[in-house]
Amino acid sequence: MAKTLREDIIKALASGQFVSGQVIADQYGVSRAAISNQINALIDMGLDIFKVRGKGYQLANPIALLNRSDVTNFLACLGQDSPVEVHSIIDSTNDYLMRKLPHQVTSGQVCLAEYQKAGRGRRGRQWISPFGSHLYLSVYYKLEQGMSQAMGLSLVTALAVKDAIRQLADIDIQLKWPNDVYANGKKLAGILIDLEGQPTGDCHCVIGIGINVQMPESMALLIDQPWTDITSLVGGKVDRNLLAATLIYCLNMRIMKQRDSGLASMLEDWHQHDLFLNKEIKLLTGSKETQGVCRGVNEQGALMLEVDGIIKPIYGGEVSVRGLS
Ligand code: BTN
Repeated sequence: MAKTLREDIIKALASGQFVSGQVIADQYGVSRAAISNQINALIDMGLDIFKVRGKGYQLANPIALLNRSDVTNFLACLGQDSPVEVHSIIDSTNDYLMRKLPHQVTSGQVCLAEYQKAGRGRRGRQWISPFGSHLYLSVYYKLEQGMSQAMGLSLVTALAVKDAIRQLADIDIQLKWPNDVYANGKKLAGILIDLEGQPTGDCHCVIGIGINVQMPESMALLIDQPWTDITSLVGGKVDRNLLAATLIYCLNMRIMKQRDSGLASMLEDWHQHDLFLNKEIKLLTGSKETQGVCRGVNEQGALMLEVDGIIKPIYGGEVSVRGLS
């Protein structure tokens, strides 16, 4: 009941109309206080709701909600038919698909959500996921070539995110090894890949992508690194359903290309967008710090770091790279 009530309030607010607390309370046979609690919960999730005496509640900016049939229709226009689930509130789209492994999910299954209660970033960080503001999307793939295909997957995914954004907007995208997506030197999207499997057996992966679409003011202060969003970069609204479908399409295409031709076929594209190519960088591996020059990536997806004239591949998942100021 509370869930339906909350979802109905969200739908009513999304259109931008005033929503009367009294009318909804009467419809559901609940108290005004119960409605007020729901509104407060939505404000905590990042919705910018205000109240006008005698009129009711209104969203500061109307939002176009995610809609499964819009996403699948756009995908059909692109010639694809991935299974898509759209959730209003979820813990994490990655965790949701990982819980379904191995038998309750088919390769290519997509999970999207309006809000993540426990969105995860890399290195155990939280991914702040305000309601209806951004894109939170995960896709499950069974890796037909086993763990070897998992190498380079983060680069392949970053390229797919770049492809999708470029298809819809004239934004200059930079890619930061292994899997960050930047514009104007600020973070625009993040990628989190969860893997499960044995080196010689079946290998499953869930690719999670968060793209900043329109950061609500109330959440902006909580982000601890320079960020940007698509709306401010293009100076207008972005259709999140179209963005989701384009992203699914681009990711499927890149994954197929990697399977058929390997990462080597995408290196030129990567190097054209590499944020650090031929720049001085410092590399943090645990507590160890190495300085060198970034010489791009190799066909396994390793960062090529030049130190004292010698170029060495850097693998390892928990390595971070920061530009020297
Ligand atoms: C990063 O730290 O840069 C990675 C962020 C990944 C966030 C996305 S949002 C969809 C998916 N679900 C999660 O819990 N995380 C990923």
